[in-house]
Amino acid sequence: MVFIIVGTQWGDEGKGKIIDLLTDRVDMVIRYQGGDNAGHTVRVGGEEIILHLIPSGILHAEKCCVIGSGVVINPKALQDEIEFLKKKGIQVDGRLYISQNAHLIMPYHVRFDVMREESEGKGGIGTTRRGIGPTYADKADRVGIRVVDLLDKDDLKERLNRNLLEKNSIFKNAYGQEGFDPSQIEKDFLVYTGLMGKYATDTSVLVNQAIDEGKTVLFEGAQGTLLDVDYGTYPYVTSSNPIAGGACIGAGVGPTKIDAVLGVTKAYTTRVGNGPFPTEMCQYHSEEVRIKGREYGATTGRPRRCGWFDTVAVRYAIRLNGLKALIITKLDVLNDLETILVCTGYQYKGELITEFPQSLKILRECTPVYEEIPGWKQEIAHIREYAQLPSKAKYYLERIKKLLQIDIAVVSVGPERDQSIILDEGLLP
Ligand code: GDP
Ligand code: IMO
Ligand code: MG
Repeated sequence: MVFIIVGTQWGDEGKGKIIDLLTDRVDMVIRYQGGDNAGHTVRVGGEEIILHLIPSGILHAEKCCVIGSGVVINPKALQDEIEFLKKKGIQVDGRLYISQNAHLIMPYHVRFDVMREESEGKGGIGTTRRGIGPTYADKADRVGIRVVDLLDKDDLKERLNRNLLEKNSIFKNAYGQEGFDPSQIEKDFLVYTGLMGKYATDTSVLVNQAIDEGKTVLFEGAQGTLLDVDYGTYPYVTSSNPIAGGACIGAGVGPTKIDAVLGVTKAYTTRVGNGPFPTEMCQYHSEEVRIKGREYGATTGRPRRCGWFDTVAVRYAIRLNGLKALIITKLDVLNDLETILVCTGYQYKGELITEFPQSLKILRECTPVYEEIPGWKQEIAHIREYAQLPSKAKYYLERIKKLLQIDIAVVSVGPERDQSIILDEGLLP
């Protein structure tokens, strides 16, 4: 069976926790897009581990983990993450595989990202400054450097010389900065040749073989549907395709091989970085939720903006990803609220909108229509069975199900692996 797990909002839905929870049931976990802009948190026995590049399945011994060709890799970030895991006694060698086609984040990509953000100040996208956009731009522009290029010394030299001729003139003329010395980058990067050589392979062969052998395979989406470069709140998006369609391209697997797509959805909404956010809470509620939900970026530490559950946005994610069911996370964060709001539509110029608008102007100017749901005002983090949840918490979930016309497979009530309520085994791997 082949499952894709995607984020249905603006990222940080708790994908890491859910992938870790499900990895016991699968043979292989694959990252298919994004890079170290992702921060996927897994908490086991009180210890928190944040993964940026390596699939969250790595914490389960013997499971195979793959970084597909749609991922952009900063070799230094990869090296650091491998070292970090090894220090924790986690075996990485022999079960981590990296696509030869994956593009590399070069130092000039990171600098372009940082300079653009700094020059735009508050009007910027609010990126993670990891060089993600410039790397994908170079990939599309056919001047990127792939893992396989790093393994060929002469090829790397030629590409670096050619690229830096152009890029250094931009650094100098547009930003008044010194450029990069190609031979220095070449020297620095050759250090990573050994590392890449150890893990690089044709991962499409590997993944398709596993599928053909009847293994259970899980695709781990990074970011979220509303950050998708084609369907998100453009230009306030990332530069890849987190939606389910991206998994086929980013891993080299045909669409006929996919059995189901599950969407991870926070019981409320968060967003980090700039861009429209119709259901953003007032400062009072936002602070309350941020503190209780520890809503600070797992990659950058930035405070996340908090908002109410938005059925317009999640319905959009259900459509774009072809979701079979939702996995609701962080329900426990709402424990103390007197009243919880659920957005059922947007009001714009006297009209009710129920399909997610593509216009940033509408998204910025619309007024959410809310349904008020009474809070349960009770601790739920210890509960492991749906029947044991307070009736008001069950009502909240039932309303979401009804409004979205979709099943809920799992409800997460805390960051630990075991703080999960499985509602329907039949929907899971
Ligand atoms: P991801 O990027 O989708 O993997 O999500 P992040 O790891 O960036 O952010 C999710 C945060 O919520 C992490 O700190 C998790 O440990 C935490 N978390 C996940 N599920 C739950 C839950 O059900 N309840 C609570 N309280 N925290 C959770
Ligand atoms: P995970 O996988 C939340 C956001 C950034 C910014 C925009 C573009 O942990 O859910 P980028 O650096 O990608 O060019 O930034 O996307 N962003 C994320 N927000 N979770 C993420 O990943 C994100 N990755 C990028 O904050 O708004
Ligand atoms: Mg995250």
